[in-house]
Amino acid sequence: MTDSHLDLKTDIPHSARVYDYLLGGKDNYPADRAAAASITADWPNLPKSMRANRSFMARLAHRLAAEHGIRQFLDIGTGLPTAPNLHEVAQTVAPESRIVYVDNDPIVLVHARALLTSTPEGRTSYLDADFHDPDAILSSDQLGETLDLSRPVALSLIAIVHFMPDDAVVQDIIDRLMEPLAPGSMLALSACTADSAPEEVTAGVAAYNANGIPLVARDKAGMERFFDGLELLEPGVVLVNHWYPDEAAAEVDDAHVHMYGAVARKPA
Ligand SMILES: C[S@@+](CC[C@H](N)C(=O)[O-])C[C@H]1O[C@@H](n2cnc3c(N)ncnc32)[C@H](O)[C@@H]1O
Repeated sequence: MTDSHLDLKTDIPHSARVYDYLLGGKDNYPADRAAAASITADWPNLPKSMRANRSFMARLAHRLAAEHGIRQFLDIGTGLPTAPNLHEVAQTVAPESRIVYVDNDPIVLVHARALLTSTPEGRTSYLDADFHDPDAILSSDQLGETLDLSRPVALSLIAIVHFMPDDAVVQDIIDRLMEPLAPGSMLALSACTADSAPEEVTAGVAAYNANGIPLVARDKAGMERFFDGLELLEPGVVLVNHWYPDEAAAEVDDAHVHMYGAVARKPA
């Protein structure tokens, strides 16, 4: 497939490819690398913060599978495949785990094959859809054929809602996605905050916006509100390096982590 068939818009920086570049990946273009250079001039610790977030994602998938018995995941804003992917972590604990990945970036779609490497006992599927269209996600064949909504599902929104500045829009979509999920389902969220490094993150957010990528930083109360109506699990909304840290996370400096993360359970 060529770029023109897919309209990859490689001349415009894109969040998934900027993220890929800053994590050391190869699926990015000159416009993404130029944007990354200008953003990190203002936001030098962004790559460290992104790595802390990625490590949070892996600890989260492991803990949900190992401690909470979660066997189904709906991961929206998946990003380009990066080792380990969520299904690889979950299936290490429980090979029968089933995962639906969703992203709206055509480049992620091109690389989706790397996400479809399920164990034979489990299943993974990939859906090219927009977070803003929860009905399309919930009614998709990919979801219908992969997940059993009568059993708990973890909805994971890792490093995506900070691209959506309107709290009410995000809340409405979260509510609509959680509504059909069984009691015991989980909402796992991480998003950008300036609380740990106000000057640096404020400058960095402005640099993202100047590169045409909308980004917003939220404070702790703003993050906590997304969990209204759910049972926020310990330790609540924390910088992602503080969420059940492993040895590496425990050594990270808080001033270098600009992401809050938390998990909550849908009550019976
Ligand atoms: C920063 S990456 C995070 C990737 C991964 N979740 C992680 O934390 O490592 C954000 C991802 O969200 C996707 N995204 C942004 N807006 C989206 C939308 N409206 N619908 C679906 N995906 C979206 C981007 O394409 C990108 O792949």
